[in-house]
Amino acid sequence: MQIVKYVFQPHGDDRGQLVALEEYRDIPFEIKRVYYMYDTVAGVVRGKHAHRTLEQILVCIHGSCKVRLDNGYEKKIIPLERPYEGLYIANNMWREMYDFSPDAVLMVLASDMYDEQDYIRDYDDFINCVKNKSLKKI
Ligand code: TYD
Repeated sequence: MQIVKYVFQPHGDDRGQLVALEEYRDIPFEIKRVYYMYDTVAGVVRGKHAHRTLEQILVCIHGSCKVRLDNGYEKKIIPLERPYEGLYIANNMWREMYDFSPDAVLMVLASDMYDEQDYIRDYDDFINCVKNKSLKKI
């Protein structure tokens, strides 16, 4: 599984750091939605779903967390601990976010509006979906 991590350009000077994210320039899609998680309770695992079409970039803009990605065949764990790094998550990818530090703020840039129909929330459905897709490719 290929992990796509973006390293954004920090515009640092003697006042501190600033990162700017523009669609199609720093982010490979039109940004239609931004949301973020904070005050995440210790031990919690968030996500636990895949999306049929949505693409996302996760940026832990404060603190740290881990992301487990699963494409149905392979799993990988990616630590997010730098505010200038973004993890790209394609569609049809099961994700779980966990190990949040108490100060973690996880920002998500999404390619579309919130749509419950786009979610695959059952892991067995996700596996069936991925395996059916790869069968169709043969
Ligand atoms: P949820 O999908 O459970 O978050 P995660 O899977 O990342 O842990 O979302 C939590 C709540 O927030 C749920 O009631 C739906 C709502 N929500 C929105 O209203 N808009 C959004 O863009 C998102 C991501 C969630």
